[in-house]
Amino acid sequence: MTNLERHSYDVVVIGAGGAGLRAAVEAREAGLRVAIICKSLFGKAHTVMAEGGAAASMGNVNDKDNWQVHFRDTMRGGKFLNHYKMAELHAKEAPDRIWELEQWGALFDRTSEGKISQRNFGGHEYPRLAHVGDRTGLELIRTMQQRIVALQQKDGKTYQSMESHLKVFAELTVTEILKEDGKIAGVYGYWRESGAEVLFEAPTVIIATGGVGKTFKITSNSWEGTGDGHALALKAGANLVDMEFLQFHPTGMVWPPSVRGILVTESVRGEGGVLTNTNGERFMFKYIPDVFKDKYADNEEEADRWYADQDNNRRPPELLPRDEVARAINTEVKAGRGTEHGGVFLDVSKRLTAEVIKKRLPSMWHQFYELAGVDITKEAMEVGPTCHYVMGGVEVEADTAAAVGVPGLFAAGEVAGGMHGSNRLGGNSLSDLLVFGRRAGMGAAEYVKSAKPVAVSEAAIKAAAERIQAPFNRSGGENSYSLHAELQEITHNLVGIIRTGSELTEAITKIAEIRKRSANVSVAGDRKFNPGFHLAFDLDNMLLVAESTAKSAISREESRGGHTRDDFPQLDNKWRQINHIASFDGKEVSVRKQALPAIPKELFDLFDIHELEKYMTPDEIAKGGAR
Ligand code: FUM
Repeated sequence: MTNLERHSYDVVVIGAGGAGLRAAVEAREAGLRVAIICKSLFGKAHTVMAEGGAAASMGNVNDKDNWQVHFRDTMRGGKFLNHYKMAELHAKEAPDRIWELEQWGALFDRTSEGKISQRNFGGHEYPRLAHVGDRTGLELIRTMQQRIVALQQKDGKTYQSMESHLKVFAELTVTEILKEDGKIAGVYGYWRESGAEVLFEAPTVIIATGGVGKTFKITSNSWEGTGDGHALALKAGANLVDMEFLQFHPTGMVWPPSVRGILVTESVRGEGGVLTNTNGERFMFKYIPDVFKDKYADNEEEADRWYADQDNNRRPPELLPRDEVARAINTEVKAGRGTEHGGVFLDVSKRLTAEVIKKRLPSMWHQFYELAGVDITKEAMEVGPTCHYVMGGVEVEADTAAAVGVPGLFAAGEVAGGMHGSNRLGGNSLSDLLVFGRRAGMGAAEYVKSAKPVAVSEAAIKAAAERIQAPFNRSGGENSYSLHAELQEITHNLVGIIRTGSELTEAITKIAEIRKRSANVSVAGDRKFNPGFHLAFDLDNMLLVAESTAKSAISREESRGGHTRDDFPQLDNKWRQINHIASFDGKEVSVRKQALPAIPKELFDLFDIHELEKYMTPDEIAKGGAR
């Protein structure tokens, strides 16, 4: 193609959320030429939806906190399916990443002693979330953006054009990751405004595209959450690990319909918010699982005392890990104790004064007042589960964030799997994306040192260009909006919070049918400002994600974290040692089982043996964690 826009970089980062920006900073500081591509506007990323804070064991509010406690909480939260090494690196490095962010200009809330304030969140033993009101993700993105701008200017005199060393390409969709001789060679895509095509040649690609929420009907994710990175990685030959695990955040808005799914931050419960059903019952006391009975209060008096004396009492059950709370709300609503809109009540007005609510939860106050006409300083909110996060993702090496099996490909943040096991603790995503964003940047820098120059073949360019043009060459075909709506119905009804084998079988068949029909999607009009054109590609990605999720979910015959099987309601210890690996042969996704890496003895010994007995087989325990 003679008039094709072409660029050449050392690293292409796909995604400008926290992980992508942190990776880009690291790679640029290592001297590499870096392109950041984002589908949306620069500064607008789902990272802002991690409102409540970033978890890091700085011990500012309770000095008993340390990385070992954070590691334990993370493994417990993930029901021991986490990749231990990722959880270990995360717990150890998170504090440094927060302090670093502060040095770069992040304005965290403070304790009365002037330290970075840390708040309570579900599943964290101590107050651990560094926060900026309930706008922490936004502050993180703002700070990282500033850092990018600073790096663009830093060497202004040295380089002829900083554009060639660190540049943001906003509103550009990547349709293909390109390989030559089995190694990464670049990416192909188009400008969303004009449809004009672009080639980036680069020996390394870092995927940092976030999540998959738009595969579902009710989600906290914005329009970008279409699983692009998951699908691009699959198509490039990488694996997805444990795609059955999806996090339904317990509290999304449920009313009015136009705002259904928008996040209601866990900080509301961290600040003392109480959940009740329509009988006025504080129902969470009924849902404390056996494994958590020693840590969570089963009566109102003790739960409420915890707010005054956090060290000597069991925590309120509203602060159980998210999977437990989401399931409890779902059960209450199904049992007819939910509101007319299918939610339950969440009330912080009796715990905090209006002034404190507006200071600590400013976005929530504003969101409910403006969007639902509810004043949360006086009234309860109506809330229900919303698809928020995918624990499953690209299988990566823990230290380098390198995608297994694809030289030159890296993945960090939500799109990467393994770190959170079967359920992520709130607040662990912001620290995850900082820790592993940095590691991906480092990993790419190391890889580039020995990578040979790459050139994408004309044949690969032609194939990528034809794929972009294909929906315009058809007429009277399928409509991408209708297919997307059908897919969302299937995932919502058959692959949602509670699953059964027969429903999953039905889902797999129906997803395959939609995928067949999607090959015949046609787009009217031309490429300019054409949302149907964009959705045609998003749909393809979401279908691959949904297929991976449904096929992994039908294989896992137990309930654990963000995967609940009505027909296998118990956690089954024999599944603790099994990850699911999804791969794609160009036609369909297949899923196989793979043994988890063994936990080394020094980490194994951080846990009480009686706790481990609840999760592991006697055989595994006898071997001290190592197989
Ligand atoms: O509830 C929240 O503020 C979300 C945080 C997270 O997903 O980490």
